[in-house]
Amino acid sequence: MVEGTHPYILPITFAGSLLLAFLVYTYSYAKRPPPLKPGQDGTEKPPPPYPLKIYTQQQITSIGRYPNYEALTGVPLPTPYESFNITTAKPRPYRPFRWAYHQTMALTKLEPDWWLELESTYSTRLLQRHRILEKYGKKIMDRYLGITDPWRVKVACTEVMEMVIQFLCARYPQYFSFDCDKFVLRNGILGREFGVYEMDPLDVVFENVPEDFAIVMPDGGKGGKYVFVAGVICSSVGWDLGEKIGRVIGEIHGVVPEYEEKMGKSMDRYFSKLTTDKPIQRGSWDIVVGEPLFLCAGGAHEKLRSRQDANIKEDDLTLRVDWQTLRRLPLSGGYSIQLQSAVHAG
Ligand SMILES: *[C@@H]1O[C@H](CO)[C@@H](O)[C@H](O)[C@H]1NC(C)=O
Repeated sequence: MVEGTHPYILPITFAGSLLLAFLVYTYSYAKRPPPLKPGQDGTEKPPPPYPLKIYTQQQITSIGRYPNYEALTGVPLPTPYESFNITTAKPRPYRPFRWAYHQTMALTKLEPDWWLELESTYSTRLLQRHRILEKYGKKIMDRYLGITDPWRVKVACTEVMEMVIQFLCARYPQYFSFDCDKFVLRNGILGREFGVYEMDPLDVVFENVPEDFAIVMPDGGKGGKYVFVAGVICSSVGWDLGEKIGRVIGEIHGVVPEYEEKMGKSMDRYFSKLTTDKPIQRGSWDIVVGEPLFLCAGGAHEKLRSRQDANIKEDDLTLRVDWQTLRRLPLSGGYSIQLQSAVHAG
């Protein structure tokens, strides 16, 4: 084989290039986004997989309001929780995560039924969060429009709002319904209605779900780095949204010992590989704890803090994220991180 060409080499090479061409074709075909009709009713689901298409602003506008996210993302809507009663609902026993000494990230697939979970403290918690927002304003809820495509930030906020509404209505039909003609969300627990497109989308989320959300977006102008662009975060301890917003995620973690080596790469990798149909839950990395700023449910947080205080030097501290779920947003290209807002017992 060193000298001259073996008689089989040519056919093999030829067959090889055919195979390669086939693979490339299949791959690019699979990469093609599912066709989307504006106003589609969602009975026809596009076939998986669900890669990320970069939508233009015009395409997103033509898709229109309240698109079907089950079809757009490939994540099924939750099953209705018929027996759910908000008066008596307790959080389910908490997901078993263990604090292995060297654990950095432990990610599991999100169960579509449990993206958001309501419980009997719902109304109290919403009130507490209201008071925090009134007092701290932009330290709690804000958005950053300094990225290359600022309109994507607005689209991302709307996507999160629409996904939240579709989840709530499917999961708790006895309490939530949505009028698709008037675009009004009815919240039967609060006895209130929300004209959702007349409000700031983050406000709609804030008024209906006592959980924290952070939106991260790759910024072309910053070499595709992931920027924290919007969110509502009440339950942070030792930091606030106002000081982190607009910053590159890696910079936020910058001063955490070992972040770059242990988590920087794997987090970027997760971001870049995440498709809309594969939301994940609970990276059980708890980075740091500093001085409490916002304590929604004092007791539980204090317990957590006392457990951690022993080993931590305050100078090292920056961002502690109790990360619950991470999902790719289908239209804006951003990511929604829903953060744990309470420490559940059990
Ligand atoms: C929920 O539970 C409360 C207290 O047990 C009860 O009064 C109420 O009727 C229940 N609601 C529904 C819709 O079952």
